[in-house]
Amino acid sequence: MLLAIPNVLTSEQVAEGRRILDAAEWIDGRDTAGHQGARVKNNQQLPLRSPAAEQLGQMILKALANAPLFMSAVLPARILPPMFNRYGVGQTFGTHVDGAIRMMGNGNSVRTDVSCTLFFSNPDEYDGGELVVEDTYGSKSVKLPAGHMILYPSTSLHRVNPVTRGVRVCSFFWLQSMVRDNGEREQLYRLDRSIRALGQERGATDAVVVELTSLYHNLMRLWADA
Ligand code: NI
Repeated sequence: MLLAIPNVLTSEQVAEGRRILDAAEWIDGRDTAGHQGARVKNNQQLPLRSPAAEQLGQMILKALANAPLFMSAVLPARILPPMFNRYGVGQTFGTHVDGAIRMMGNGNSVRTDVSCTLFFSNPDEYDGGELVVEDTYGSKSVKLPAGHMILYPSTSLHRVNPVTRGVRVCSFFWLQSMVRDNGEREQLYRLDRSIRALGQERGATDAVVVELTSLYHNLMRLWADA
């Protein structure tokens, strides 16, 4: 499931983020790529644990903690610290899959279930630079306004098309979900969305709403690892 989460950051937060990102020191993105990724990756990144990455990462994680759509869609168990990349003219990241396991700074490992891209550039600031996610039904091209985020299964092959004008700046990160399976996670999200819609119509104490809510939690008991 590809899902856009609109307005994760306010326009003020995006502007503040851009000020910090534009002043930060960037390094070659190949530093953090795996064996296959390094061959097709040509971009810039903020160094892990640089002050700018830490400050903006905190801002993003705080915003996501208050984003019910995000929580419902991904059911996060562990979120890796947000990273930041920049693509100038001619830069690109060819088709690849993200590594299955990544290490946290504290030595814990995280299984990458969901990949997240949060845009810090608006679509009119650059040409090209689309995130293209492939799935069995075909590929989907994504370019969202600054402050918006796209979620996609980390199992997907994906790429960033070459930028042909301007600069594309984004945050990207991964998370491990309490629900490992993409299909099960999607059913839970759709059920939660339906319960919320029905609850709006009938009220949270309506007998059908209560019954469906119990089904949601019982499915969580079957599928989730807490
Ligand atoms: Ni990737």
